[in-house]
Amino acid sequence: DQQTTVLGIETSCDETAAAVVKDGKRILSNVVASQIKSHKRFGGVVPEVASRHHVEQFTLVCEKAMEDAKVDWADLDAIAVTQGPGLVGALLIGVNGAKALSFAHDLPLVPVHHITGHIYANRLSGDMQFPLIALIVSGGHTELIYMKEHGSYEVIGQTRDDAAGEAFDKVARTIGLPYPGGPEIDKLANVGEPSIDFPRAWLEPDSYDFSFSGLKSAVINKVHNAEQRGEELNKADIAASFRESVVDVLVTKTIKAAKNYNVKQILVAGGVAANQGLRERIESECKKEGIPLSIPPLSLCTDNAAMIAAAGTIGYLKGQRADMALNGKPGLNI
Ligand code: KG4
Ligand code: ZN
Repeated sequence: DQQTTVLGIETSCDETAAAVVKDGKRILSNVVASQIKSHKRFGGVVPEVASRHHVEQFTLVCEKAMEDAKVDWADLDAIAVTQGPGLVGALLIGVNGAKALSFAHDLPLVPVHHITGHIYANRLSGDMQFPLIALIVSGGHTELIYMKEHGSYEVIGQTRDDAAGEAFDKVARTIGLPYPGGPEIDKLANVGEPSIDFPRAWLEPDSYDFSFSGLKSAVINKVHNAEQRGEELNKADIAASFRESVVDVLVTKTIKAAKNYNVKQILVAGGVAANQGLRERIESECKKEGIPLSIPPLSLCTDNAAMIAAAGTIGYLKGQRADMALNGKPGLNI
């Protein structure tokens, strides 16, 4: 195998991140500047605030990634950058910064789809066995993807409305938890009972698509009705019941896809892959069915640039290149 050293850059949402990865699987450095504090008081990510932070942090984060990795620009084979999907203003900072670095250091530039980055976070912590089914669950995405080999992606199911992480964040807001709500709901769910029977959207029998807006509305209605009647609500039980409803659908559809496509492995990735309820349930189901499972460690589930470098390494080896006309694409297709 050809040896590669790739600098990855990620600015699609609210983390400014740069990382150096060797041979697509070994992390030499992984720097993430989180903006969560700045967005928290607004209850969600403010795009204009995100862009400004990316401008401020970009150079510092890239320099730190190079320094931590103890490599020179001449040691790099390529620069990989998230082209989309994401917030347009945020993407543009990373894309233009990466173009400048690529031009200045005469390095090939490789565009990366953010979701493929999440998938390749799994290669930084283990092996990928093909064919596989990947469940991607993040703030912006909920997708089931079939991969028959490196760099090949077939979307077999996706959300028709809210992403899983988005539903977590909105339900958290309804019961008064701070942004980002996913980890907060997760913690609260651990001390609650899933005693409330919230709906599960199975959709058509043969569909791998998801829908979480009905569930989200059911939770919001339950909370508002209780408030109007002056009833005391057990928030931990709501969190536990909501989490179970989401996890139930995610895990059932993923296992079904894995069996129908006769895969060698299930991958889980994206911010919601940090969810303890999801991790435990998919682990036990995979064990029961005898399907090998890969989930990245918590730190590689949420946005980072090591995963972008890992996915970018595959693109680089396949000859994918961008030139100085590269633009950020908020709605980029996989
Ligand atoms: O992948 P990510 O960092 O950014 C996107 O690409 O969207 O995912 C962020 C999402 C947020 O919605 C956040 O609430 C959710 O992942 N999240 C969680 C947990 N940790 C992060 N959701 C549920 N349980 C968690 N433990
Ligand atoms: Zn992400």
